[in-house]
Amino acid sequence: MAKEGNTYISRLLFVVWLSFSLASDTSPYCYVKTSPAILNETVELFCKVDGQLNESTTRKWERGVFVITSNDKSNDSSKYKERKTDDGFALQIIKLQASDLNKEYTCVYGFKRCHFNLTINLGNFEVHPVNKTVTTTWNEAAGKLEVQIKFPLVYPKPRCKVIYNEKYSAKSKSIKTRSHHVGEFYSTNVTVEENIGSVCIKKLKITCTVGSKDFVIKDYTSPTKNCKNVG
Ligand SMILES: *[C@@H]1O[C@H](CO)[C@@H](O)[C@H](O)[C@H]1NC(C)=O
Ligand SMILES: *[C@@H]1O[C@H](CO)[C@@H](O)[C@H](O)[C@H]1NC(C)=O
Ligand SMILES: *[C@@H]1O[C@H](CO)[C@@H](O)[C@H](O)[C@H]1NC(C)=O
Ligand SMILES: *[C@@H]1O[C@H](CO)[C@@H](O)[C@H](O)[C@H]1NC(C)=O
Ligand SMILES: *[C@@H]1O[C@H](CO)[C@@H](O)[C@H](O)[C@H]1NC(C)=O
Ligand SMILES: *[C@@H]1O[C@H](CO)[C@@H](O)[C@H](O)[C@H]1NC(C)=O
Repeated sequence: MAKEGNTYISRLLFVVWLSFSLASDTSPYCYVKTSPAILNETVELFCKVDGQLNESTTRKWERGVFVITSNDKSNDSSKYKERKTDDGFALQIIKLQASDLNKEYTCVYGFKRCHFNLTINLGNFEVHPVNKTVTTTWNEAAGKLEVQIKFPLVYPKPRCKVIYNEKYSAKSKSIKTRSHHVGEFYSTNVTVEENIGSVCIKKLKITCTVGSKDFVIKDYTSPTKNCKNVG
């Protein structure tokens, strides 16, 4: 009786052990490693495996139904690269484009897989202004400073600061930001209308913050001792 009881208990323990070991045999964990992910720059997706990476186990990254990397080989090496670490492997997407978004990416490790949709809501995503496409015009007349800045493509919405003659800062109510959706990003116009009285502008510095980074949009210093509209 005692012997049968022991057998029963050891069978029970075996079942408990088996279900624990199946549960702990987890799938890899995948996520966007680059934060923030920036359009036009390299973005890394990471596949973390359980324990140490076993180099003999098959590794793949898929995009939709296509295999894009497989054990160090890439289907397009100008676009996709694999990077191995001790505890996983990464997919590097070179020059991230809008067309790379809203696609399902899957990492495959042996028989296990992990997938997610790369969306701009997933983690931190930014589109930085490019100097040659941002246009800035400004004018000083009748006691008013007027500035117009146009960002054809940006994300998130920029927040701009205008400093003139190194000590005056345009009031926030003088700065109006209008944005339209362009796909998932924005096209933004910023207008500034600040009463400056008789102040003559010799220096003008416009800095806009886009997500995690500050951009100097305009850094003007009068070449003469005169004001802009005079000189
Ligand atoms: C992306 O890069 C290309 C060339 O490097 C540039 O012409 C383009 O303006 C950039 N676009 C964005 C949104 O950064
Ligand atoms: C790595 O994978 C190979 C092939 O699947 C297997 O034979 C080997 O035992 C694994 N090594 C480790 C340390 O898990
Ligand atoms: C590589 O994968 C992409 C999927 O992103 C697919 O569109 C393309 O046709 C593949 N190229 C080759 C050469 O297999
Ligand atoms: C990704 O998006 C597609 C289409 O919207 C959906 O069918 C799929 O289940 C999503 N996959 C994941 C892992 O969320
Ligand atoms: C920005 O201004 C231009 C005209 O200068 C206009 O066509 C465009 O619709 C404006 N965009 C926004 C987001 O208001
Ligand atoms: C963009 O323009 C600003 C102001 O004119 C300048 O200070 C900055 O160096 C430029 N950045 C690049 C990357 O050309």
